[in-house]
Amino acid sequence: GPSSSSIDMDMLKEREIDRGRLQIGQLLGEGAFGHVVKATLEQPEGGNVVVAVKKLKDNAETTARTDLLRETCIMLLCGDHDNVIGLKGICFRDGPLQLVLEYAEHGSLLHLLWTLRAESKLNRTVLVNKRHIFENMMVGVCCGLEHLASQRLVHRDIAARNILICGKGTAKIADFGLARDTYAVGYHRQGRGNELLPLKWMAPEGLKNEAMFTHKSDVWSFGVLLWEVAQLGRTPYPGMDGADRIYDALRNHFRLPRPQLCTEERYQLMLKCWKFNEKRRPDATTVRKQLEADPNGFF
Ligand code: ADE
Repeated sequence: GPSSSSIDMDMLKEREIDRGRLQIGQLLGEGAFGHVVKATLEQPEGGNVVVAVKKLKDNAETTARTDLLRETCIMLLCGDHDNVIGLKGICFRDGPLQLVLEYAEHGSLLHLLWTLRAESKLNRTVLVNKRHIFENMMVGVCCGLEHLASQRLVHRDIAARNILICGKGTAKIADFGLARDTYAVGYHRQGRGNELLPLKWMAPEGLKNEAMFTHKSDVWSFGVLLWEVAQLGRTPYPGMDGADRIYDALRNHFRLPRPQLCTEERYQLMLKCWKFNEKRRPDATTVRKQLEADPNGFF
């Protein structure tokens, strides 16, 4: 998951939610060790709010529980931001560990892109009509990344599957840990501890040495996210597998090709995010300013 930090039980206890306040609903997403369900949370002042509850399956490894606790601590340390999924609290007493999150009505950006691809086959004009929505989402993700960087947090898993879209169309960075398990697409079991890693979104320094992640590695992943948007949710580097193979290709100056549905200027921005040397990559603020200065780069 994101930059590791220790588990602070006192901090967690302050955010405990009595599980009796939750009414569990339909399944939203499922992985090997955990799943996310829709639920309602009874408010102390009366009424209910819709939330998403992330919980471990009964067969979850104990490391998954530790990961979920760590994820919770990271989200608490991160603090509130409009472009980061909010944490309402956590249930840990009298039953399984459950993370109570802000609900994002439109689900993941990846699913939204798949829907857009299907729609665009029937009617090409939807792309131009909806372009501004995706431009705004990418500016929003940059704002979220700026916030994470200001809090000295490295997400390490920026990808369309981990961006959630709420009712107003606001993009929110989600999945500070278990995500790689919840949405299995795009991960490869290649880590030293045989963990699932998002190889095709990882900067070369991360592929080479997993301890090397910085906020500039998140900028690299953001470049891949821009590519995913322009490719309507297609998987990067089709047919290319293995950390060593991807690393060698990047080392030899190979990059994802320019998507047909983006301008040359937008592709140049992606290439800046994919500078081999992280010091030469722009920071999230610079990327955001370039997106804002060129708001018609997609489709
Ligand atoms: N899937 C995973 N997390 C979610 C959330 N917070 N809202 C909606 N769907 C989700």
